[in-house]
Amino acid sequence: MNKEELYKEVLAQAGSVVAGETDLIANMANVAALLHEAFGFWWTGFYRVITPSNSPTRGENIQELVLGPFQGPLACTRIPFGKGVCGTAWAKAETIIVPNVHEFAGHIACSSESNSEIVVPMFQDGEIIGVLDIDSKEYNTFDETDKRYLEKIVGQM
Ligand code: SME
Repeated sequence: MNKEELYKEVLAQAGSVVAGETDLIANMANVAALLHEAFGFWWTGFYRVITPSNSPTRGENIQELVLGPFQGPLACTRIPFGKGVCGTAWAKAETIIVPNVHEFAGHIACSSESNSEIVVPMFQDGEIIGVLDIDSKEYNTFDETDKRYLEKIVGQM
């Protein structure tokens, strides 16, 4: 099965999994597991936009990303707006494909084994509520096919 065919299956499976559940965190957990298992990525997970009253890093009432459900090794818990690939995808409100993370200025290295990455913002009522972040140990893992299907997958959550 090629990548596109696999994505079609995962898109359908993700659709039926999230259709029966309204809790976003539960859906993030299942979609992270589904993608991680299907494609064997290095790290697959979500960060949620929150406005913390007690952020250890940003003070009160400043929005930031906080780690959500994921599969893979331990990850950084908080990412400021505009920082790293995740914070940049949030700030630009668009998917970012990074063929080589070592060449992305400001990349946040949660794992030294990650070499390429894609970050897809999640929208709800026109607002970004979080991002899907996927890391690969290989360079150049992600392309327009990943972008297209991952955007569809988060779009139906
Ligand atoms: N590399 C990301 C940080 C999150 S980890 O990859 C899981 C970034 O630069 O935003």
